[in-house]
Amino acid sequence: MNAPIPRDIPLPLPAPEGLLEVLLIVSFLVHIVFVHLMVGGSLFSLICQIRGLKTPDYEKLAYRIMQTVTVNKSLAVVMGVAPLLIINTLYAPQFYASSALIGDMWMAVIPLVTVAFLLAYVHKFWWNHFINIPELHIGIAALETALFLFIPLIFMTNVNLMLFPEYWPQVKGFISAMLLPNVLQRYLHFISAAVLFSSLFFIWWTGRKAFLQEAQFSKLRVIDVRRFFYAFAFGATILQILTGLVVFATLPAQGMSWGFTLLLMLGGATALPAIWWMWQNLTRPDHLLDDNFKKIMGCFVGAIIIMGIARHDYRENTLADHKTAIAEKTANYMAAVKEAGEAAQLAAKALEGKATIPGESEFNQNCAACHHATLPTVGPSVQEIKAIYVGDPAGIAAWTKSPGKKRADSMSMPGFPHISDDELAAISQYLLNH
Ligand code: HEC
Repeated sequence: MNAPIPRDIPLPLPAPEGLLEVLLIVSFLVHIVFVHLMVGGSLFSLICQIRGLKTPDYEKLAYRIMQTVTVNKSLAVVMGVAPLLIINTLYAPQFYASSALIGDMWMAVIPLVTVAFLLAYVHKFWWNHFINIPELHIGIAALETALFLFIPLIFMTNVNLMLFPEYWPQVKGFISAMLLPNVLQRYLHFISAAVLFSSLFFIWWTGRKAFLQEAQFSKLRVIDVRRFFYAFAFGATILQILTGLVVFATLPAQGMSWGFTLLLMLGGATALPAIWWMWQNLTRPDHLLDDNFKKIMGCFVGAIIIMGIARHDYRENTLADHKTAIAEKTANYMAAVKEAGEAAQLAAKALEGKATIPGESEFNQNCAACHHATLPTVGPSVQEIKAIYVGDPAGIAAWTKSPGKKRADSMSMPGFPHISDDELAAISQYLLNH
């Protein structure tokens, strides 16, 4: 593989890998559900508000929806902490590299999220102030929605880039990483999922007994509102399948496996009955309507869990080679460290054996690397030191105990706290006499 292998020192995991993987899948699914409700909710509030220009009841609905968005956005953020930390831990070299490669945009997530949240609050809390300037209000909603739609694209670009180290050398910032094959179709797949899951959420939410009371519609019937969301849920499901197929067809081959393909087919098949029930809800006369909502939800929850597992499976397959290469590099590095340590010990032993003059072996072990007999190397030569400290071994010992910084063009000498006073006296004598 022709990819950068960034890690050589070992980075042990704080918990068993399998446990972290399960936690990642579960915490990510919880997070992404609230992200879907936040993104989709913002989009629906905008759509309903525009529709409300003609049919005022939709404006009331837009306001109600907006109240869910601010709650779901807080949950999305809080629930996002765990998966972000786990992905940083499990895929440290890969995720670090991809985050750094799109660094500017990755950092921009923070101000973008802040602005999006503030716009959402302005949109919601000052609803009545904007009564006479709906264009401005809708403009704010549109900007907020655009930000909510854009931020996931940054995340998606990052987690996609992390999977493909072979692209790292050629990536120049966010745009080029975003234009790598298969990011944009994955993003469309995500957006249709956001519309789908928020539609389902609003179908449930408008079906509660309390909703009729809350909404205070003058003409609109709840059944019409639910059909409105069913229409979106149905369309989004079809879009999910189509974009899903495109994503699948364009996924780089190294992550493909039969297990992954079967999981995807299983996930797709789990959602199929839901399509049928949704179609019935859209086409049957009101009095025959048997909403089947729980069954529909059951299908989609099953599908999303299977897809979550499949997604993880693909990631592991894609990165398998890279992880092996990193593990090898770490092993080689550690072997080299061990070898060097052993060689140094052997050399020290050999010197010890030979030493007959007091201080000689200590000098060779601790000082000779920087102090050559006649030539200045890292430090001054022994000749020079002798000249400075004629008849003053204590001076050498004192300097070595707390070396100062003397020569402007040289590095400073390290301290030697492990050398005892006796040894130091021997070294100093040896230095002066030989
Ligand atoms: C990592 C390299 C290094 C090692 C190992 C080292 N020295 Fe030095 N030593 C230096 C450097 C660099 C200087 C010059 C520092 C300066 O001038 O600021 C120096 C300077 C000296 C001087 C001259 C001080 C002066 O007054 O000019 C003495 C004496 C000396 N070292 C003794 C020792 C002894 C004894 C040992 C072993 C216990 C030792 N050094 C090990 C780097 C080293």
